[in-house]
Amino acid sequence: MAVDILLGLQWGDEGKGKIVDVLTRQYDIIARFQGGPNAGHTLEFDGIKHVLHTIPSGIFHDEALNIVGNGVVIDPVIFKREMDELKKFEGNFTEKLMLSRKAHLILPSHRMLDAASEAAKGNKKIGSTLKGIGPTYMDKTGRNGLRIGDIELPDFKERYNNLVAKHKELIALYDYECDLDSMEKEWFEAIDFLKTLTLVDSEPYVHNALRQNKKILAEGAQGTLLDIDFGTYPFVTSSNTTAAGACTGLGVAPNQIGEVFGIFKAYCTRVGSGPFPTELNDKTGEDLRAAGHEFGATTGRPRRCGWLDLPALKYAIDINGVTQLFMMKADVLSGFDTIKVCTKYKYRGEEVDHLPYKIEDHLVEPIYEELPGWSEDITKVKSVDEMPASLRSYIEYIEKHTGVPVKVVSVGPDRTQTIHR
Ligand code: IMP
Repeated sequence: MAVDILLGLQWGDEGKGKIVDVLTRQYDIIARFQGGPNAGHTLEFDGIKHVLHTIPSGIFHDEALNIVGNGVVIDPVIFKREMDELKKFEGNFTEKLMLSRKAHLILPSHRMLDAASEAAKGNKKIGSTLKGIGPTYMDKTGRNGLRIGDIELPDFKERYNNLVAKHKELIALYDYECDLDSMEKEWFEAIDFLKTLTLVDSEPYVHNALRQNKKILAEGAQGTLLDIDFGTYPFVTSSNTTAAGACTGLGVAPNQIGEVFGIFKAYCTRVGSGPFPTELNDKTGEDLRAAGHEFGATTGRPRRCGWLDLPALKYAIDINGVTQLFMMKADVLSGFDTIKVCTKYKYRGEEVDHLPYKIEDHLVEPIYEELPGWSEDITKVKSVDEMPASLRSYIEYIEKHTGVPVKVVSVGPDRTQTIHR
């Protein structure tokens, strides 16, 4: 049995959490493969809204097992808080959860380094979520990091102290004031909590599950345009958010990958800094933000909004080998007389239909096609037949340009507001 991958095709916040939750009943295992508490996956069902940061989005289903893979970075304090939040709901969540021993730990000093680095960048800051993601992945590739498996070792505290000593030297270079000691008590309490969870050698676990014909869904975080290699560098996150990241973040071989579900919004959003060619700094952008409640699930920051960008979407489809598209938040476009779609860019005086190396505002000008909008509220639409004709045309237009079928259209945040095509 293959591993299917679900990931974002834009700058994150596409609605992956909702779709994992919708798809979970078809899978035995849901596995997060990268990122960490910078993510905020929102799930809504039975009138309840819930935001998950590190825990896979299959946690609310009775049957599925949830694995936090080796490619993920875990902040024990945030993880414990997330688990505490789950106590409000019925179910034994710890029984359905496993953490890879090879996942890396976010230390309080990583968070401090993230803040110090951002402060030093001034107006060139990345707009990081300040969760310590970048410094933790730097320690991973620098071969200094601490991993979940290390918490079982007798000299864990010593390893921690050695790494923190290095961090303190770095923080001093930034001339950044912080009080690390006060954060350590809570962090070590959370480490004790992690020890009570199921820690696994997740790669052999996944391999055995595949041999037993178990169905696995790899859940991505952030989006393709935030990928460390293929995103709008340096305004990106620090992990591979793309399909290849599912292979390295779970220890799954490329020939084990089945379907790749690409999630995108019917328009575009971005939080944090960095280029965004179709951004709307006008009333239309404000209207999209208001209608789509576009405020960060992790940081609460207002999201930047703009029209759909087809060259960027096609790039993301190619990078990931997307086999099915899932279009989210179609309901937010209700009420716009005209919907614009960027089909090409004017780049250094020429028309191009691919994503150039640099897409800063002064280099790239989007070229739009206009499509008719629809005025109907579509949040209660249950089938393709009930969709307004203009919405059907919009979807077919996207399929024609990308060559990939749009299999799911989401018309609201609830599980039930999902139309399968
Ligand atoms: P970091 O991952 O916290 O280092 O942030 C790097 C960039 O990625 C910033 O622009 C963040 O706003 C963005 N980012 C990180 N995680 C998410 C996410 O889950 N959704 C959307 N943007 C994100």
